[in-house]
Amino acid sequence: MNGWTEGYVGGIDYIRAFYRDWSPALLSFALTLRGWRPPTALRDGAFTLAELGCGHGLTSAVLAGANPRARFEAMDFNPSHIAGARRLAAEGGLANAAFLEESFAEHARRDGPPLDAVALHGVWSWVSAENRAILVEVLRRRLAPGGVVFVSYNALPGTLAHMPLRRLLVEQCAAGTGPLPDRIERAVEFAARLAALGGGWFAGADGVTERIESLRHKSPNYIAHEYLNGDWTAFYHADVARELAAAKLEFAGAAVPMEQLDDLTLSPAAQAMAAEAADPAVAETLRDVLTNRSFRRDLFVKGGERLTPAERSLLLRATRFALLVPPDDLPEVASTPLGRLPFPRAVHGPLGEALGAGPRRLGELLALPALAAQGEAAVVRALVLLTSLGFAAPLPEEDGLAERQAQADRFNGAVLERHRSGDTPGHLASPLLGSGVALSRIEGLFLLAARLAEDPADLAWRHLSADGIALGRDGRRFESAEESIAELASRHAAFTARRQPLLARLGVR
Ligand SMILES: C[S@@+](CC[C@H](N)C(=O)[O-])C[C@H]1O[C@@H](n2cnc3c(N)ncnc32)[C@H](O)[C@@H]1O
Repeated sequence: MNGWTEGYVGGIDYIRAFYRDWSPALLSFALTLRGWRPPTALRDGAFTLAELGCGHGLTSAVLAGANPRARFEAMDFNPSHIAGARRLAAEGGLANAAFLEESFAEHARRDGPPLDAVALHGVWSWVSAENRAILVEVLRRRLAPGGVVFVSYNALPGTLAHMPLRRLLVEQCAAGTGPLPDRIERAVEFAARLAALGGGWFAGADGVTERIESLRHKSPNYIAHEYLNGDWTAFYHADVARELAAAKLEFAGAAVPMEQLDDLTLSPAAQAMAAEAADPAVAETLRDVLTNRSFRRDLFVKGGERLTPAERSLLLRATRFALLVPPDDLPEVASTPLGRLPFPRAVHGPLGEALGAGPRRLGELLALPALAAQGEAAVVRALVLLTSLGFAAPLPEEDGLAERQAQADRFNGAVLERHRSGDTPGHLASPLLGSGVALSRIEGLFLLAARLAEDPADLAWRHLSADGIALGRDGRRFESAEESIAELASRHAAFTARRQPLLARLGVR
């Protein structure tokens, strides 16, 4: 093991991923819903956001590409993560993002501007108690009054069921030989063979066999960083709340708006029992017990100000929303981690139609007779579901859009160039959302061709074939280049008809 890793898994990079959970407009929406005044800086776009333990820094980079007035400070002690993040920032012209190669302890000694928001994703459960104390100290010293922290962690009691799995993987990997990815693969197969025997723990624990099966499709990079760290601690929410209280932080609510809706997961009797707890941290922990939650994404605020119901309603009504899919792609029933949720036509029909025409403030939506008839609570609930499930998003203020567009165009240009080789964050910056939008390699090559006024199918095929990527249809692999190019031309026609207009509305071009 390398000396600098402090028990964190070394020798294998984390996966490259973008997470929209701490996009500024989403943070503001989640806080407002729970009756907290969101930091003014988050709303006017001139905020400072730190991501501690940023991995490859893709989320910070894409957010920086979409929020030029904001400043991003992203740090990680893994030099290969930071080297890649700096290269992306340089190519994308990100003057507003600093990627720092340092440990939490080194970072805690650094001075810097007050932070309006901090993201701790994939960190809290995977580092030592000593490092958590250092992180608390960073928050105590640097988070601005009114600032918000996003923190994710493995939660109890749901994670209890998975503890023996982690142990199995750790022991098997330690006993194995050869490169770590191969040892991980063999360890997962071993766990799958054990699970196939059934009985014992496998019979008694919920969802374990399914989790092992899902690990067979995950990259060794993910499995290493989830399961193989020296520290791996699952928390009761109440304990996280108590540790963070040392930085004057108070629990503000679930970061995923939908998770704030108790009635989606709890019966009326269960809601009433959770509400009996006088301490909000205990109430939240009871909810986890009643739902057997295994992962949490929480928001905490430092000196958060409470909104009156009238102020909350005003702020919500002033919030703009945009659809992230064509309106006719909105489902009638959505499959969610919480089960199947119906989208009642009476609300979702007129809502989809109105947002299909362009972004609207909640106030404007409520002025439409069909939605006014449903009432504010029903429309807000529909927006909570749509935004949580990625069908819609809350937007930052219109002010500054031209500046955001200019920066996003420059950043996206660099990212699109990377689609030639496939080395991309998988997301482009959307100036409308102030956040990222997912894009496949082929879609990126189509957009690149449009920028360069080249034939899209030819350009895409040139780069895909150079990487040995074969295309096919209905299970048949195309033998000739002509067939592949024809297939790409047909995919491009579909892209131009449905996806490109949507991307253009989001300012992604
Ligand atoms: C699971 S990754 C999460 C990355 C990123 N936040 C994301 O969500 O994609 C955790 C990251 O924390 C970093 N890390 C762990 N311990 C650290 C420490 N003591 N100091 C600095 N970075 C650390 C690791 O290198 C790793 O990149």
